[in-house]
Amino acid sequence: MKPLNELTVGIANDHAGVEVKNYIIEQLSGKVKRFVNFGTDTTDSCDYPDYAHPLATAIETGECDFGVAICGTGNGISITCNKHQAVRAALSWEEEIAKLGREHNNANVVGIPARFISKEKALQIVEAFLTTDFEGGRHERRVEKIAVAK
Ligand code: RB5
Repeated sequence: MKPLNELTVGIANDHAGVEVKNYIIEQLSGKVKRFVNFGTDTTDSCDYPDYAHPLATAIETGECDFGVAICGTGNGISITCNKHQAVRAALSWEEEIAKLGREHNNANVVGIPARFISKEKALQIVEAFLTTDFEGGRHERRVEKIAVAK
């Protein structure tokens, strides 16, 4: 797994996630290689799929190593990201859940519920996610069975 300072991280959110997104970018900008901000950048009401799909596509194409997806509950934006076959978005409200999302599920997007946790907690979750490796082994077999056969 690449070290934090070599990661390109995509980040997408709806109106409920702007403050948390800005805080994460501000705090981690000197630590990751680059953020790709897919918006939204205003608190005007919007539709999370409009931001989730471009993020998920960037994960699929390899433009971004990992993604951070933020909405009020984290549900809508995670559900949308998970419609993309190569994306595994793990909704996380505790660091341990984010770590297990990486270790056991090889998650490549972390879903953040902005209306239910503090921005400081969100930052800790994102840092934990970006610095934890997939365990492989028995988990690899399970992850390989996730995708629906075409
Ligand atoms: C927006 O009000 C809210 O529905 C959205 O942020 C998210 O929680 C949806 O899952």
